[in-house]
Amino acid sequence: MMSRTNVKHERRGDPACVVVPPARPASTLAQEARAGLLRAPRQLPPKYFYDAYGSALFDRICDQPEYYPTRTESRLLERHARDIVAMVRPRSVIEFGSGMPRKIRYLLDACEATGCAPGYCPFDVCHEVLVNAGRMLTDDYPWLEVLALVGDYGAGLAHLPPVRSPALYIFLGSTIGNFAHADAVAFLREVRGTMCAGDHLLLGADRVKDPQVLHAAYNDAEGLTAEFNVNLLRVLNRELGADFDIEGFRHYACYNAPACQVEMYLIAATAQDVDLTALGQRVHFEEGAHILTEISRKFTRATLEALLAEAGFTVVRHLQDDCAWFSLVLARVH
Ligand code: AVJ
Repeated sequence: MMSRTNVKHERRGDPACVVVPPARPASTLAQEARAGLLRAPRQLPPKYFYDAYGSALFDRICDQPEYYPTRTESRLLERHARDIVAMVRPRSVIEFGSGMPRKIRYLLDACEATGCAPGYCPFDVCHEVLVNAGRMLTDDYPWLEVLALVGDYGAGLAHLPPVRSPALYIFLGSTIGNFAHADAVAFLREVRGTMCAGDHLLLGADRVKDPQVLHAAYNDAEGLTAEFNVNLLRVLNRELGADFDIEGFRHYACYNAPACQVEMYLIAATAQDVDLTALGQRVHFEEGAHILTEISRKFTRATLEALLAEAGFTVVRHLQDDCAWFSLVLARVH
């Protein structure tokens, strides 16, 4: 990786970190809450789920028997990582929304086995998560050079540091499903805009399937998804000085078949008034009032390939498990 003056090593053995400044103003929680809570339809963006507690909850959700996406995608990676690495021969791997280093290990193992030693650039909002992840990986892969990118990839990619080509950009876990169609196209076009000839994108996306399976995945018996959803109100209480009565809201997740998406809501069990101190506003929630907290879009092979085509990509490999529950697509620039 390039050596740059704005790259910081905090301690020996820690990964190098570089702050990626937003290419356009990133909206704040206060702005999102103003736009999303003061008028109907009420909604908040899912990125605020992931404070330390929310991230830990999500990690546990991934291990729940009903939550098939993480497991299914991991098996696909395990099975196909060697082929992917053989095709791309990456000299750098850039991962959007890296979080805890789980799935990247399959790719790194395949690199090790085939004598390929790319640099790894995990891109995440949380500096602490990046440092911990970097430490864990360099312990296990001593050859690995990690350049952690701290920033919000939703705020643009114009200031990404240069990386070695061929680069493999990875966006896993079906996070693309959190984006409305137009936003997904815009984000993928931006990724494409940073790519050079020979670079590839590896995209993980969840598939349309039996609604009962989808319903169970977002309504796990342990109640972790419910706790994860309700945690958003704790984030609002803490960050905006709000006083949501957490007990007064219920988790509700359902599959909207015509829209091909799971929708997650918080629903007020009883009427309540909430002070949003940071906004200088008081909001009334009537009984049954709902806040849309997440959409999780589900794709068919065709809709996923159409999305990639619209964003300017050519599909190189479209991998799926035997049940066709999850897709892993390797694509390159047209
Ligand atoms: C991380 C966005 C892929 O949509 O399945 C899990 C988040 N929400 N359970 C998803 C989530 C509820 C997850 N993504």
